[in-house]
Amino acid sequence: MVRLVISSDGPAAVGGWRAAFRAVAPHLQTCSWYDPAYRPGPDDYALVWHPSSADLARMGGLRGIICTGAGVNQLLGDPAFPHHVPLVRMGGAQTAALMADYVLWAVLGLLRDARTWAIQQDARIWRENHVSRTSAETRVGVMGMGHLGAHVAGHLRHAGFMVSGWRRSTQDVPGIRVFAGREALPEFLANVDILVNLLPSTPQTRGMIDHALLARLPRGAGLVNVGRGDHVVQDDLLRALDDGMLGGAVLDVTTPEPLPPDHPLWRHERVTLTPHVASWASQEAQARYVVEVIDQMEHNERPALLYEPARGY
Ligand code: GLV
Repeated sequence: MVRLVISSDGPAAVGGWRAAFRAVAPHLQTCSWYDPAYRPGPDDYALVWHPSSADLARMGGLRGIICTGAGVNQLLGDPAFPHHVPLVRMGGAQTAALMADYVLWAVLGLLRDARTWAIQQDARIWRENHVSRTSAETRVGVMGMGHLGAHVAGHLRHAGFMVSGWRRSTQDVPGIRVFAGREALPEFLANVDILVNLLPSTPQTRGMIDHALLARLPRGAGLVNVGRGDHVVQDDLLRALDDGMLGGAVLDVTTPEPLPPDHPLWRHERVTLTPHVASWASQEAQARYVVEVIDQMEHNERPALLYEPARGY
């Protein structure tokens, strides 16, 4: 009998998760990973975010692992991760919609220079900073055009922005010009006013947003990072912000999280920081998605967001 064992977010979160699963799938059996009586079984699926290595080492006999994150690098980077167990990333309509709303907020904030308003308000300064550029006159480029990226790009386009995308391999996304592969990266970057990073964190993408990449953007461009902190070489980012190469950045992810209290990004006048909250779907919305995934796997169907080792995400 299929059973879902809940590890994600620690013991205190199990009650909330179980209530969410009871609400959306009353017949699904759930249990707590932290119950001392729990023994992993071959019909069990685990719901995880960032389990300890000791926990991962006990997951080798499970039928599947479903991650509450859209990114799974935190699991793959652990030598104890059982690579023979199918791993599925978080998806679902609410996850994509929340990410799209966050990116729209970030892009509009960069366009209107909302950071300056916040700084001025703090100091009780009334100074008009006129921006007469509209969304229709602003080019946004989304790096990473998978499940989330394609949704974000569509949302930005509906809001009126000129949107293009960049991805590893050629694959069309309706209504969006997509540049594919490393060779196309310079042309893509040269034509964006605001760059949005939604790439997965893999050995190929870590450290990719460095001085050389930022230098290819038009001077004064904006950056939104909703991928992972490790995509960005933070010293290069600071340098680019300080010398005006970049006009501003909105960062939902950093290295480490949180940044140390004295890190210059905390107080940088061109930077808006948010605490890794861009897309945090409700437990019920996630539960609905997880139930769908389990159902697909039980019917030997391939979930759309199944981790593929050859791709690294
Ligand atoms: C959060 O960063 C996630 O991977 O969903």
